[in-house]
Amino acid sequence: MGEDPFPLSVSIIDEEHREIERAAVELMNAIVLGAAQDSLIITGDELVRVTTLHFEHEEAMLKRIQFADLTRHIAAHKVILEKLRRVKEKIESRETSAAFHQLREYRALLQQHLQSEDERYREPLNRLAAERGAEPLLPRIRRMGLNT
Ligand SMILES: [Fe+2]
Ligand SMILES: [Fe+2]
Repeated sequence: MGEDPFPLSVSIIDEEHREIERAAVELMNAIVLGAAQDSLIITGDELVRVTTLHFEHEEAMLKRIQFADLTRHIAAHKVILEKLRRVKEKIESRETSAAFHQLREYRALLQQHLQSEDERYREPLNRLAAERGAEPLLPRIRRMGLNT
């Protein structure tokens, strides 16, 4: 099996959630401040990049711990990515207020996901982490987007 990447996966999850939050806030600010189209595209691409990467990492981690609700979790990620695709679509067609609206919905979906779906793997993951001497996830995933 080679080197076990498990401990790394545990420690980066919370950081990736924060990274997504930062990217989402940045895009929201860019829209509100009326940033140029190319800047909105770049900021939107970054949000897609960090979200996609995190979902890939998380799904791989859930596979490794043989998480019971994996299929359902992957389906939930797909719904969020679909919402993000709409955000990008509205940016590309220069429908800024529609993009903003979609982005708000994306953040609400994501926040709900962190608080419900992502909470479901905390206990099995931390149990395994403890067995392997890895650092556990923080007690609670920080709420997103309420301070902006
Ligand atoms: Fe998730
Ligand atoms: Fe997550």
